[in-house]
Amino acid sequence: MLRDRIRHKSLLDRVITADQAAAMIRDGMTVGMSGFTRAGEAKAVPLALAERARTDPLKITLITGASLGNDLDRTLAEAHVTARRMPFQSDPGLRKLINAGEVMFIDQHLSETVEQLRTGQLPPVDIAVIEAVAILDHGGIVPTTSVGNSASFAILADKVIVELNMSQPTTLEGLHDIFIPQRRPSRMPIPVVTADSRIGLPYIPVPPEKIAGIVISEKHDSFANVDKPDDDTRAIAGHLTDFLLNEVHKGRMGYDLQPLQAGIGTIANAVLHGFIDAPFHDLKMYSEVLQDSTFELLDSGKLTFASGSSITLSSEMNAHILPRLAEYKHHLILRPQEISNHPEVIRRLGLICINTALEFDIYGNVNSTHVGGTHMMNGIGGSGDFARNAYMSIFVTKSTAKKGTISSVVPMVSHVDHTEHDVDILITEKGLADLRGLAPRERAEVIIRNCVHEGYRDALADYFDRARARGGQTPHVIEEALSWHVALRERGTMMPG
Ligand code: COA
Repeated sequence: MLRDRIRHKSLLDRVITADQAAAMIRDGMTVGMSGFTRAGEAKAVPLALAERARTDPLKITLITGASLGNDLDRTLAEAHVTARRMPFQSDPGLRKLINAGEVMFIDQHLSETVEQLRTGQLPPVDIAVIEAVAILDHGGIVPTTSVGNSASFAILADKVIVELNMSQPTTLEGLHDIFIPQRRPSRMPIPVVTADSRIGLPYIPVPPEKIAGIVISEKHDSFANVDKPDDDTRAIAGHLTDFLLNEVHKGRMGYDLQPLQAGIGTIANAVLHGFIDAPFHDLKMYSEVLQDSTFELLDSGKLTFASGSSITLSSEMNAHILPRLAEYKHHLILRPQEISNHPEVIRRLGLICINTALEFDIYGNVNSTHVGGTHMMNGIGGSGDFARNAYMSIFVTKSTAKKGTISSVVPMVSHVDHTEHDVDILITEKGLADLRGLAPRERAEVIIRNCVHEGYRDALADYFDRARARGGQTPHVIEEALSWHVALRERGTMMPG
């Protein structure tokens, strides 16, 4: 059985325990671990590391692709192992320690991390811990349900620990497309010209002598919590569909649209689910995370191909897809995140990018990360990679949060992730604001008219009237611009009165 998975014979004697692998990680090291949106993370070694820290405290810089599953981010942070963390997380326990200032979190565009590692702008990765489904006869590593930054970690690190996950199906082999861009400034174009372009190898090329240990694990990926579409997300999907149909009717695109990218989270997933009932066909995705909705669209025949960096599914969808993965293989690719999120490729393919905002302001600046302007939610993830380079950059959110006490449309966002220059379309359940070709004063009018909850609309219109009276390209009553957030902090609600 093990020989089926470790095909390079001389590596068979490198099987070690998770504790032995964890012992290779020393205080102060930078560790690159696999894992992207709770998929394909190394599972046994991080747990052993947290356990070891009880008697032998150590601190590391932990770099991954994106978020880890199986509560690993919480476990490592609470064991005080994680001193610095980048480039993304979504764990409530780690979030708490980040916001308490105990863990230094570097919130980074997901396409950029390995560019900075490769050029020595970040400290080098001392050791890579990569989950794999097999090690090939030449030593190449076949990742599992995500690629993320794993390939570059393995290539750049001094040592590689492979976690061979026997519970991951070998049908994953052949799904991955590993391509590492050349060094700059003489880099050749990245030859992805359609969503389904295969440009690399189906494994991570690593010299076998770099594999310092192989740990056997059986643990599954954790499942995504997918909220079913509700009235609000159905309304958002409806506005988006009507808008895109109108673009088709105007002759700007065909019924196959442009390749789609959809961000993480329940809202983006539900919005994509809405495409099942829309009249589009032959759709393609060039995205980052392939969620339940991707497979629902593939099953419905609406979507013909999906490119991503990870597969993150609910337990029901996982039970449906994994045994039948071979049937989907011709419709899927998993790429390194610097390729799935590469500005060059995103601009070339002309993606329709749908990401989620926590809040946006009357001019279209978007906050996706900081609650109340200060407290980290998850991180910017790939949303900036996509929004800045999109054919059409769309942000969706419900018009209110926390039982209506928070308006998602505010005079001025309390933190900016996506400036007005990177935002074309805003959608809430109330309606859609098409901001293309509009100046800030025009943007404010259409946003207030179409996107704001009725409980906040008059107050926002009044703010804008008074701001406009003061003049400016982007008018504000500057001393009042964050007063809605102040009210939330002091009174527990943004609701006027
Ligand atoms: N102020 C405070 N809290 C807010 C808020 C606001 N304006 N808007 C939403 N929230 C809260 C919700 O109440 C919810 O809280 P809960 O977890 O306590 O229930 C939480 O934020 C998540 O919101 P939800 O409505 O469930 O949306 P989501 O699951 O779709 O997540 C983001 C929304 C913005 C947090 C998520 O999409 C994200 O992290 N985005 C940034 C990264 C990204 O876009 N990556 C995409 C590239 S793949």
